[in-house]
Amino acid sequence: MCLQTTTPFNDQRPGTSGLRKTVTVFQQAHYLENFVQSVLDCLPDLPGCTLVIGGDGRYHNDTAIEIILRMAAANGVARAVVGHGGIMSTPAASNLIRQRRALGGFILSASHNPGGPLGDFGIKFNGSNGGPATEALTEAFFARSRQLTTYRILDAVPVIDLNRLGMVALGPLEVEIIDSVADYALLMEQIFDMAAIRRLFAGGFRMVFDGMNAVTGPYAVEILENRLGAAQGTVINRLPLPDFGGHHPDPNLVHAAELVSMLTGPDAPDFGAASDGDGDRNMVLGRDFYISPSDSLAVLAANAHLVPHFAAGLFGVARSMPTSLAVDRVAAALAIPCYETPTGWKFFGTLLDAGRINICGEESFGTGSDHVREKDGLWAVLMWLNVLAVRKISAEALMREHWRDYGRNFYSRHDYEGVESAAADALMAELRSGLADLPGRILANHIVASADDFSYADPVDGSRSARQGVRIIFKDGARIVYRLSGTGTSGSTLRVY
Ligand code: G1P
Ligand code: ZN
Repeated sequence: MCLQTTTPFNDQRPGTSGLRKTVTVFQQAHYLENFVQSVLDCLPDLPGCTLVIGGDGRYHNDTAIEIILRMAAANGVARAVVGHGGIMSTPAASNLIRQRRALGGFILSASHNPGGPLGDFGIKFNGSNGGPATEALTEAFFARSRQLTTYRILDAVPVIDLNRLGMVALGPLEVEIIDSVADYALLMEQIFDMAAIRRLFAGGFRMVFDGMNAVTGPYAVEILENRLGAAQGTVINRLPLPDFGGHHPDPNLVHAAELVSMLTGPDAPDFGAASDGDGDRNMVLGRDFYISPSDSLAVLAANAHLVPHFAAGLFGVARSMPTSLAVDRVAAALAIPCYETPTGWKFFGTLLDAGRINICGEESFGTGSDHVREKDGLWAVLMWLNVLAVRKISAEALMREHWRDYGRNFYSRHDYEGVESAAADALMAELRSGLADLPGRILANHIVASADDFSYADPVDGSRSARQGVRIIFKDGARIVYRLSGTGTSGSTLRVY
């Protein structure tokens, strides 16, 4: 064991989804170690616990896992459950934390941000419910990181081969290297009508799933091709690569251009889908037909009862504030509550744990349910397949029918990246200062009904989160939202919805 002296870094405040920086920042001496020790110092019941550790396979993944294992050993953790090759999707990690009753887990990912030596890296801690640490906890990590003077690490130990399944000892720590695809596939089989989806594929239904050379490839091959009988080759870009093949593993119309072009034309497959770096996002497409994440959330909520896991119906839904109100229409029709939360999955956790909601989502290509405590890309794809298999209609027909029955919401999001931070902060400050004068004013023929900086009081634990985005709401239901991203790694990103 070694007690290493260190000096604090002042920039380790986790953002919307963990601590994200460029790889070069994480490669600085003591940088990752300091953050990991700060997290461990804030966890009660650490001695003797189990932690789950895995990442999206991006550059620096192995090095980071080795450091975390040596630190876990020196901090009294009893067991670490690690994904084969160090790879584990975010939803699979969430599931494992829950299955193994672990104290929590470290997920190494910068999600959809590019990877490679000059790309981004990230680390996130999820608690025992499988979900991202709450804001109170991430603030505690940050406070601790500013005072840290030492960390504990096991030195002079051999490097563990993460490609060998099974148990291996690292000093006092038991390291269990597992095939995380198997547990996840089993969970999916418990949720969905696999027989109906198998019949769909057997009947000639064709789809393409773009793994974007990120973490979901192996999961998608096992579930879609091996277990559900989709044609071999259904999963493209299936091999996880440290630099994602040089691509940007972000499932949207820009970065999944190859998939979009494959879904175009009369001979195109019936359905297309893609996930992101760590497997929690999804984009779904019909033939020649784009489905927005907000519409996807709404139509899945409206049809959830066709999926065995939701056969008893939904008891509540939630969406992040900038997400369109399409799902609110469904909740109203079902007479169930619809919660509006700040951006980021961590705000859904208390609602899911308390059984207030069982489906939730964000406009940023994130959809999920109470089966884990993260958004889940492949789960969303399987939801779609299950619904299409039962309804026996195309994705486009399903969506058009939905709009006919519930009405339709339109929106777009504009991202201004790499803005100088001082300028972005000044812009937000000016917007905030003008809010009080807006109600009653007419802007481009719309009357402003209200204007505020979104603030959220968690209905379960009462915690408050202020300054979550400036919103201007018009009398006709239209909205404009401005917020600064909490996941960028250089300057500021302004999002205008
Ligand atoms: C973005 C998305 C947000 C999502 C997060 C993590 O955060 O907008 O919905 O939860 O990535 O995937 P942002 O950069 O906007 O803070
Ligand atoms: Zn992600």
